[in-house]
Amino acid sequence: MKILGISGSPRTEKRSGTIKLLKHVLEHTGMDYELISLHGKRINGCIGCMACADDNICKVKDDFAPLRDKVVEADAYVLGGVNYFSTLNAVMHAFLERWYQFRHREADIMWGKLAVTVGLGGAMPQPPAEMMNAFCTYNLIKVVDTVHATGAFGCCYCSYGETCKVGGHYAIHGPGVPITADSIPDVMKDQCALEAGAKAGKVLGDVLRNGYDRMKVTREMQAEMSKLVESLRNA
Ligand SMILES: Cc1cc2nc3c(=O)[nH]c(=O)nc-3n(C[C@H](O)[C@H](O)[C@H](O)COP(=O)(O)O)c2cc1C
Repeated sequence: MKILGISGSPRTEKRSGTIKLLKHVLEHTGMDYELISLHGKRINGCIGCMACADDNICKVKDDFAPLRDKVVEADAYVLGGVNYFSTLNAVMHAFLERWYQFRHREADIMWGKLAVTVGLGGAMPQPPAEMMNAFCTYNLIKVVDTVHATGAFGCCYCSYGETCKVGGHYAIHGPGVPITADSIPDVMKDQCALEAGAKAGKVLGDVLRNGYDRMKVTREMQAEMSKLVESLRNA
């Protein structure tokens, strides 16, 4: 069983909370894993050219191409995304858009796989997590757990954060609250996030170890998708 972690934060690995929390989740699966950061990667969104329809292989040449085999070979994913303007940040969105290539002609490349999603936000970590959960559903991947955590606004590092009125730090704390090494949100000091991450990793590891039946999960996800389609038809 192979688990692939994808950290969608464009930040460096040293600064990003997402990659740290992903590593924590992956460690708690108790299984072998590979963790990839999208930091520094040039990944464009799907351009809808449909050149992947014949063979389920995207023809766009960028940094997604070398990751394709890893995505295909994985049995499960730990996906991390960040809230940028109340939605999933662009590079992770682009990365997941490219999974469109796996869907054509009822190809079952992704069907019945498992995922844990991890959303980070300066204030609201839910929107990126919800977006990644939707991407998983479209690919008939079952999300076994979702983790939300507070990360550090850019204002914590930009050097104007204590006084800049459009920044997240000021918006949340108001005037006069200093930004110090201790006050900058850090997922590795956030007991709730660490506990939720450990639980999610364990859930994923346990499911994969204890009689995971990909066909059964596929049928479950097909039923969920049918309900979604039905609700669209009736809307
Ligand atoms: C361009 C940009 C837009 C952002 N928009 C939001 C937002 O709308 N809501 C929010 O809660 N956080 C927002 N944030 C804060 C990030 O979600 C936060 O910094 C997060 O911790 C980043 O995770 P990382 O450290 O793994 O990169 C924004 C950050 C950036 C750089």
